[in-house]
Amino acid sequence: MIQIHQNVSLKNFNTFGIEAYARYFVEINHKEELAELFLDPQWHQANRLVLGGGSNMLFTQNFDGLVIRINIRGIEHRINHETVIVESGAGEIWDDLVNYCVDWGFAGVENLSLIPGSVGASPVQNIGAYGVELKDVFESCEAFEIATGEFKHFDKAACQFDYRESIFKQKLKGKLIIVSVKFKLSTQENINISYGAITDELQKRDIVNPTIKDVSIVVSAIRVSKLPDPSTIGNAGSFFKNPIVSKQQFDQIYQQFPEISHYIMHNGIKLAAGWLIEQCGWKGKVVGHTGTWKNQALVLVNHGNASGDEVYHLSEAIILSVKEKFEVTLEREVNII
Ligand code: EPU
Repeated sequence: MIQIHQNVSLKNFNTFGIEAYARYFVEINHKEELAELFLDPQWHQANRLVLGGGSNMLFTQNFDGLVIRINIRGIEHRINHETVIVESGAGEIWDDLVNYCVDWGFAGVENLSLIPGSVGASPVQNIGAYGVELKDVFESCEAFEIATGEFKHFDKAACQFDYRESIFKQKLKGKLIIVSVKFKLSTQENINISYGAITDELQKRDIVNPTIKDVSIVVSAIRVSKLPDPSTIGNAGSFFKNPIVSKQQFDQIYQQFPEISHYIMHNGIKLAAGWLIEQCGWKGKVVGHTGTWKNQALVLVNHGNASGDEVYHLSEAIILSVKEKFEVTLEREVNII
């Protein structure tokens, strides 16, 4: 039986650790409870916010609507020769799923170790790190369609994945709630260590033939060294997307800044936003209760008691200075509420 609570603090439900209140709040533990919730017509009209791990949002105000916290648990798998399908409830913590796979020896998600957030949010963002994106291991997902009350399946093509993008952020935004995700992994040690930082770290540790577990440990160590731990310093990972610019624009910037970090993409040249921000002098800067992280300028942090507005204003100032120096407009990766 679902229970709707009123005026609930969201401080422990967002990794920025920002205080904000939800007018209404409901926790969903089983997918059938979504059908029960939306039997009441008032929730069809209400402002709604679906919350997983709360690792990709910044509250700049209270939420005057219904927050739906997805806590659907359970992980299971089915092996078929060299492939394995792992199915997880949307409310599982992403890194718990990674550990499940690493412990079983299923290859594919080890490069995505220690990413904060929930399994249900992973396809929305097409999360990615260290040379792997969610779309590389995604098989399908099941989602509740609010308007019809039906559960629908989405295969990889239907999700229209791109860099930090999917149909769930675009055309279908607000229309669906993901309840479970299936991943296609390998029972063979198919590891991907193409990312420079991983190779360097493996070499440092004298690991010549890395296992899935080695890769997971090394990726976790790199993340810990670069990124602040949200349980002690509030943050939402990369605050901005890495911008993709045209070849022509890149050539202009490159003439002036030949050391610029960049990657060639199918639709242009991706620039490292952290590098752009650092060049503007923001790395490690403390501004009031907020600032950028000392080891990774792309991460905005809450040094304690920051308001969402403070963080937002800092992000505005950063966007402005990157625009002035490089003529590049940074886009936020984090959702602003
Ligand atoms: N760099 C700087 N200064 C900085 C930060 C980065 O010069 O302050 C340079 C680095 O030296 C490097 C380049 O920028 O040459 C890229 O840096 P890094 O490898 O740290 O990766 P990133 O592009 O900043 C992306 C993802 C991260 C992911 C890493 C590792 C985005 C928006 N971010 O960051 O994802 O962990 O790659 O693959 O694509 C997240 O999305 O929340 C996230 C943490």
